[in-house]
Amino acid sequence: MRVLSGIQPSGELHLGNYVGALKQFVELQNDYESFFSVVDLHAMTSLHDPNELRPLIASAKRVFLAIGLNPEKSTLFVQSDVPAHTELAWIFATITPLGELERMTQYKDKKAQGLEANAGLLTYPLLMAADILMYRAEKVPVGEDQVQHLELTGDIAKKFNKQFGELFVVPKPILRAGVSRIKSLQDPEKKMSKSLGPKHYVGLFEHADDIRDKFKRAVTDSEHDIRFDPDNKPGISNLLTIYGAIQGQPMDEVEQHFADKSYTELKEEVAEAVIAELKPIQQRAEELSDIDVAAAFKQGAERAQAEAEKTMREVRKRVGIA
Ligand code: TYM
Repeated sequence: MRVLSGIQPSGELHLGNYVGALKQFVELQNDYESFFSVVDLHAMTSLHDPNELRPLIASAKRVFLAIGLNPEKSTLFVQSDVPAHTELAWIFATITPLGELERMTQYKDKKAQGLEANAGLLTYPLLMAADILMYRAEKVPVGEDQVQHLELTGDIAKKFNKQFGELFVVPKPILRAGVSRIKSLQDPEKKMSKSLGPKHYVGLFEHADDIRDKFKRAVTDSEHDIRFDPDNKPGISNLLTIYGAIQGQPMDEVEQHFADKSYTELKEEVAEAVIAELKPIQQRAEELSDIDVAAAFKQGAERAQAEAEKTMREVRKRVGIA
C-alpha cells in the first residue's frame, strides 16, 4: 500500500506540522511504500520572494532527513523536480467546476484574511490532487485542515475515472487521533499556524530558551485544575495534547500525570518535553552535509519522476493528447 504527503516550505516548519503530520511520516515509512514531498510550487501561492523561498526549501529538505525519514525506505522529493505534477493539475482543472474550488474553506479563510487571492491560491487543491493521484496513493497522512482538500481529490479521481476509464485510486486521510489540530499558544481557539505570528507557534529550530518562554506565556484560563476539556479549557487541553503526542501517552495517563500539578508546572514540563524531542532533530539537521541532502532528494526525484511518467503516459492517452 502507498502513502503520500506533502509539506509547504512557505515558512519555518512548526510544532503543529510536526505533531500533526511529520512525526507520523517517520512511523509510516516502515509499513508503507512512502512518498513525501516538499511542495515548493504550493508555497509560491503565498511567497513571492526567491531569496526567502530558496532557503525555506533547503531547510524543509533537511527537516525531512533530520526527523528520521530514510531515503532508502521513502521516496523524498521536491515537487517542482517532477514537472508532471503541474501537467496533471492542468488536466484536472479542465474537469473541475470552478464552484468546487471556490467553496474550499482554506481558500475562503485566506481570502477573508485579506490575502491576495491569486489564481494559484484558488487552484491549489488541483495541484494537491495531482500530487496524490499521480502516485495512486491510498493513504494520505495529514492534519485536519487538509481533509476537505482530500475529499475534493477523491471527487476528482472519481470524475476522471468516470469520464476516461478507471485509473485513479480514491485516497483516504490518515488522521492522528486527537492531534490533527494543534492550537495556537496565544489563541487556543485557532489552529497553530505561522501566519498568526511568532508568539502563536513553536518553530522546529527554535532555541530552548525561546521555547520555554513561549510555553510560559501560553494562554490558559483562570481556573486551577488540569483536565482535558477542549470546549471549556482549550489552552490547557492543547498543552496536554502536545505533551501526550510527544510522549506517546494516552490522554487519561497524561491527565493523571498532571492531576495534582499547577499550571506553571504543566507549562514547564510540556516545554521540556518539546525541547527534548526537538533537540536531536536540530542536532541532526545541523550535522547533515549538503551533499547527503542533495543525494537523498536526487534519488527521490528520479524515483518519483519514473512513477509519474508511468501515470502520465496513461493519462495522456486517456484524454486524447497522446
Ligand atoms: P501545510 O504545509 O500547511 O501543512 C503540512 C502538514 O501539517 C499539518 N498541520 C497541522 N497539523 C496539526 N495541527 C496544526 N496546527 C497543523 N498545521 C499544519 C497539515 O494538515 C499538513 O498535513 N496542502 C498541504 C500540502 C500538500 C499536501 C499534498 C498534503 C500539498 N500536496 C499532498 C498531503 C498530500 C498544506 O498546505 O499543508
